[in-house]
Amino acid sequence: MDQKTEELAANAAGIARAAGLLAAGGLVAFPTETVYGLGADARNGTAVAGIFAAKGRPRFNPLIVHVADLTSAEAIAVFDDQARALAAAFWPGPLTLVLPLRPAAGISDLVSAGLTTVAIRCPAHPVARALLTAFGGPLAAPSANPSGKVSPTTAAHVIEGLAGRIAAVVDGGPCKVGVESTILAVDPPRLLRPGGLPLEALEAALGQPVAAPEIAADGAHLPNAPGQLTSHYAPGAAVRLEAHDKRAGEIWIGFGPACPGAEISLSPSGDLTEAAATLFAALRAADRLARATGAATIAVAPLPETGLGRAINDRLRRAAAPRG
Ligand code: TXA
Ligand code: MG
Repeated sequence: MDQKTEELAANAAGIARAAGLLAAGGLVAFPTETVYGLGADARNGTAVAGIFAAKGRPRFNPLIVHVADLTSAEAIAVFDDQARALAAAFWPGPLTLVLPLRPAAGISDLVSAGLTTVAIRCPAHPVARALLTAFGGPLAAPSANPSGKVSPTTAAHVIEGLAGRIAAVVDGGPCKVGVESTILAVDPPRLLRPGGLPLEALEAALGQPVAAPEIAADGAHLPNAPGQLTSHYAPGAAVRLEAHDKRAGEIWIGFGPACPGAEISLSPSGDLTEAAATLFAALRAADRLARATGAATIAVAPLPETGLGRAINDRLRRAAAPRG
């Protein structure tokens, strides 16, 4: 289990080293525009199994396959006209499409968890793209964090959670989007996970509404894809949502200008793009502060359920859910 985790620079030498480690069946964390992914050769079942071991995932959830371009994606999944139009509109970018898997694609059964469909995306981050090109094949990659914990948006976050368990991490700086990709099942269009591409943008491109699962007041019916756990993204402290003020024994994460006394803000001006980019680092910082000050709870100000607010609120509800 214990190995030395190499910290690689995002230059030609670092990317060549990372591609070599992946080709040898190693696990390499790399930056995407959403969060850092923990990559393995999607065709190598042993390497993919290593992802679950390194993350300590309780069960084999299906993983997202990352490819360099649409041509590579079409070798793995069956695209209809609508899927092709969505890829043309939003790739490279924070959109994952769930499509029929080509049986001869050579993708490990562990990646699709035995389903007849595959989740696939073409990331926009230049380092992810350079790595996919250098490696020359598909990479299975969930977020590069221990199972159930907050997703990493810097290389330091990856090291904090996975040092000694993975071969390397490529340091590409902080992730710009900050929440995971939006997952869409294409036929018929259904939102499986709100994410870095707003639902409104998908609906505008499709010219039709996209079914999104309802959210009950108690958070019981969260937007769901197979293998998504209700409790996820969990900091050590308890989480209280819709907090309009700060109570005794709390660290308060604010949003917008009207949060006097908040220790941390997702965006002082109330900007959802900034809030998404800040979210996971803010949860980590609040957790550290809570530990240092003996606060038992992290309170979070309300955010609107529109645009990127949907993805942010989804992650916050999971962070606040009862821990399994
Ligand atoms: O932004 C992201 O999407 C990040 C970065 C690293 O690319 N990746 C990521 O992967 O979030 P992961 O493994 O944490 O999320 C995979 C999600 C799971 O919730 C799973 O249920 C869903 O994708 N999924 C995978 N294959 C599926 C399938 N065939 N049908 C439905 N959902 C699927
Ligand atoms: Mg994850």
